[in-house]
Amino acid sequence: MTERPEVLLPLKWDNDALLMLDQRLLPEETVYLRLTTPEQVWEGIRELKVRGAPAIGIAAAYGVVLGVLNFKGNLQELFQSVVQYADNLATSRPTAVNLFWALDRMKARTSALVEMNLTTEEVIDALINEAQQIHAEDEETNRLIGQHALSLFSDGMGVLTHCNAGGLATSKYGTALAPFYLALEEGINLKVFADETRPVLQGARLTAFELQQAGVDVTLICDNMAGHVMSKGWIQAVIVGTDRVAANGDVANKIGTYSVAVLAKAHQIPFYVACPLSTIDLSTPTGADIPIEQRNVDEVSHGFGKRTAPKGVNIYNPAFDITPNELVTAIITEKGIIRAPYSDSLKQLFSNKGSN
Ligand code: MRU
Repeated sequence: MTERPEVLLPLKWDNDALLMLDQRLLPEETVYLRLTTPEQVWEGIRELKVRGAPAIGIAAAYGVVLGVLNFKGNLQELFQSVVQYADNLATSRPTAVNLFWALDRMKARTSALVEMNLTTEEVIDALINEAQQIHAEDEETNRLIGQHALSLFSDGMGVLTHCNAGGLATSKYGTALAPFYLALEEGINLKVFADETRPVLQGARLTAFELQQAGVDVTLICDNMAGHVMSKGWIQAVIVGTDRVAANGDVANKIGTYSVAVLAKAHQIPFYVACPLSTIDLSTPTGADIPIEQRNVDEVSHGFGKRTAPKGVNIYNPAFDITPNELVTAIITEKGIIRAPYSDSLKQLFSNKGSN
């Protein structure tokens, strides 16, 4: 058995500060920013210094903690303060539901704590623990997702992924990339193809980087090469992460995911989505109800650090797209592998929550 290589962690809690790896600088520079205010965390999320649905949620939970670390006042005021910071952090990005999930959890925990007749210092300590708990649970969740996902792969398979749903997008290991790390540990050979993922190049800058660092066999391709490599017979499965799964199994993920799903269908290749339960949002009925973030047009006009489009041209830059549930072969969670009909199986997943 090969020893698991260390992966670069996107977030670290350091007593009274959040260390955030500035992912905009990867793969060339590894710089940790020392953040001490919720406003800095808001900006870090907004500007993609940290990105990826689970990592955004973890960062936001720490952001709330930073807001109240030196709080002076009574318990009711502390609760109000938590709500205010959480509501503001919730405006940083709209699509990944893990952000709202983590902030709701911090608010609910605060509400329960203020009922317990503790001192404000005790409540603040418990909130630090809660954020650390969210962080630690994500790591365990990802290992389980990886184990379930690996059961779908076998030695020698070619697997394509889009964007970055790896260690850099989570606490560690990732969701869609977790099986690749486990395969390495278990001596199972997989050949990974990573789409570069225009316009911000998460696939090239982050996925190719973290898999290469870990010793995974990874080949980087431009987004428009996916169909070509599939037609060559080099891809036996696609696996991606997601920012939100709707109650009917429609999946929001990085722009371009839908095109990959259509290509996979055309080549009869299974299309898998890996995510924790915290990414599944039963209160969002369908993909059409998921808010899609529109980002700055500069990401498209200056994609490679210089102007690559004429000044003044119309540009459309949605950060995510929706893959309809009929293109999704299975959704892999920490609780196991979920298949269609998703309206039933997802509901079932939550009604069984805690029982296994
Ligand atoms: O804009 P980003 O980089 O935050 O988008 C990230 C993705 O689309 C990921 O695939 C998704 O968040 C899942 S991360 C485990």
